[in-house]
Amino acid sequence: MKIIIASSEEIAKSASRQYVELLKEKPNAVLGFATGSTPLPLYAELVSLCKEGKLSFKDVTTFNLDEYVGLEPTHDQSYRYFMNTNLFDLVDVDKSRTHVPSGIDTSDEALAQYDKDIALAGGLDMQLLGIGCNGHIGFNEPGTPLESLTHVVELTQNTREVNSRLFNDIGEVPTHAATMGIKTVMNARKIILIATGASKAQAMFDTIKGPVSSACPASVLQLHPDVTVYMDKDAAALL
Ligand code: GLP
Repeated sequence: MKIIIASSEEIAKSASRQYVELLKEKPNAVLGFATGSTPLPLYAELVSLCKEGKLSFKDVTTFNLDEYVGLEPTHDQSYRYFMNTNLFDLVDVDKSRTHVPSGIDTSDEALAQYDKDIALAGGLDMQLLGIGCNGHIGFNEPGTPLESLTHVVELTQNTREVNSRLFNDIGEVPTHAATMGIKTVMNARKIILIATGASKAQAMFDTIKGPVSSACPASVLQLHPDVTVYMDKDAAALL
């Protein structure tokens, strides 16, 4: 694991350079994206670089980590809507090659097809991750088997409470989500994990210093050969 401790602005700049390097080498790379507040400064930086002509997404294929079950893609809290408004609509990506798990068709076939589509596209070249306060990656909550592929999970009360800040009240937060599995994430050739804020400090300690255990799903990243972890001072406070 390569560990970088920096300010949120420096993290955005430094992580964006990984995209510039990858896309220079492989313009048709397969990129795994994440939602949440954490990647927003990075997405803003990628948008700027694209506007300045220093980065182009025109030949990439993208797969997002997860989606709330029951939310239409047009719902303003759906992760498809988040990606469109924070990245896809602002860069030169071909939207027909952007994928977000369906929150509407969560049949076994549709879930299995997501992993098949990733494989058909050539596999993920680089997967971006945030982290939940309980160590979840995507929506793989503690206890998720490390061998899991794309599946539906029941969200923990804690995750629903944390994410309720974006909804009118907790009753509106979906109870389930479709998410890439831990194995799907681990199959990516390169992984970037970004964690900012004191609420992530314990999860980052468990991820980096704890045992590899499904109790902290992100700890499995210790076994991946090419992970860059970016943290601000607050997220790194317990290390
Ligand atoms: C959600 C997402 C995760 C994300 C996490 C942290 O639960 N499913 O992919 O990493 O929240 O979000 P934030 O970056 O807003 O703290």
